[in-house]
Amino acid sequence: MTVFVTGGAGFIGSNFVLDWLAGCDEAVVNLDALTYAGNVHNLDSLRGNPHHVFVHGDIGDAALVGRLLAEHRPRAVLHFAAESHVDRSIHGPGAFVQTNIVGTFQLLEAIRAYWGALEPAARAAFRLLHVSTDEVFGSLSKDAPAFTETHPYEPNSPYSASKAASDHLVRAYHHTYGLPVLTTNCSNNYGPLHFPEKLIPLMIVNAQAGKPLPVYGDGQQIRDWLYVKDHCSAIRCVLARGRLGETYNVGGWNEMPNLEIVHTVCDLLDELAPRADGISYRTQISFVTDRPGHDRRYAIDASKIHRELGWRPAETFASGIRKTVQWYLDNPQWVQQVQSGAYREWVAQQYAAN
Ligand code: NAD
Ligand code: DAU
Repeated sequence: MTVFVTGGAGFIGSNFVLDWLAGCDEAVVNLDALTYAGNVHNLDSLRGNPHHVFVHGDIGDAALVGRLLAEHRPRAVLHFAAESHVDRSIHGPGAFVQTNIVGTFQLLEAIRAYWGALEPAARAAFRLLHVSTDEVFGSLSKDAPAFTETHPYEPNSPYSASKAASDHLVRAYHHTYGLPVLTTNCSNNYGPLHFPEKLIPLMIVNAQAGKPLPVYGDGQQIRDWLYVKDHCSAIRCVLARGRLGETYNVGGWNEMPNLEIVHTVCDLLDELAPRADGISYRTQISFVTDRPGHDRRYAIDASKIHRELGWRPAETFASGIRKTVQWYLDNPQWVQQVQSGAYREWVAQQYAAN
């Protein structure tokens, strides 16, 4: 048996593929366009593994996807591929519309053709799991209850709007064509292999390089953080036992303001890799211009996936963030390798005004 993963060279996708092949020998076909966020080196430990087939290509290439599906006959597609960074969507929304909306549409068409031609047992067993985000629900006020699966969609950034559109397309393919789909809406992930344009890895990398730690606005925006391996276990759980056509919220029950996250990272670095001058990394914090349209608070109510499927996170934030900081300290060559010229150009553009 085989599963087909899109975006499996990115942060969550590569963690998923590595965990999957560590836990079983069911083959993975991994289709990734290797954008700036995709990194084949995340998969180096799978070199020579006959259960991993990496294909460099675009989800929007329906002919390629159709050929791969026909050749490998997967029992499931796990769709991670996306443009994922909110700040980049503000600078250039076009790529988000292209990959997250048009690309997902083309992927759906290729899957519909493949699935429609399967014999009845394989057709009934087939699953498409669409990996989405809590950002589609918009922003919560301070005391509002956490997002449930029935919370209205109110996306506020080009990124979240494009993800919302992809969720709607996936839903429509289930409703209209009967495609057997499952959708997960997850909160902020953190952990190993996280590209250092996102808050937590950016803070770790900048702190060690002696650079400013740029906190947007007042730093009191709240996110709900989940260790990436826990997201991967939730996806495996939904794939195995999720009810067709349902959506499942995934979160860590761990709401924290950004400034507290940055303080935690600094304190861990002070303990594990103190500065030579003995001064705390907290002194590198710099408040910078806020993100336009910045969502104030996300919070996930993950009781449905717990109640129906028995999933809950294994890591606390304290254990997960310690592992994460330690991973970055142990892997300086990975950090160095992802900080290419293109990465440096992005950082210069994004933080230029401050
Ligand atoms: P990422 O940006 O690290 O990785 C995305 C991967 O998709 C990269 O490997 C990239 O090369 C690939 N890709 C991009 N466009 C492609 C295309 N057209 N065809 C094929 N591959 C393409 O993203 P991530 O953080 O790993 O997120 C993975 C998924 O999870 C996304 O759908 C994202 O919306 C969702 N998600 C992310 C988070 C989070 O906190 N990072 C939380 C909830 C949901
Ligand atoms: O909620 C799930 C989403 O989490 C995913 O769907 C997205 O793909 C993922 O990128 C993430 O989006 P965020 O915008 O929440 O993540 P980011 O790491 O970019 O920012 C986290 C918070 O930190 C946010 O409030 C903005 C703030 N921030 C971010 C950066 C990069 C800063 O204060 N300074 C920074 O330099």
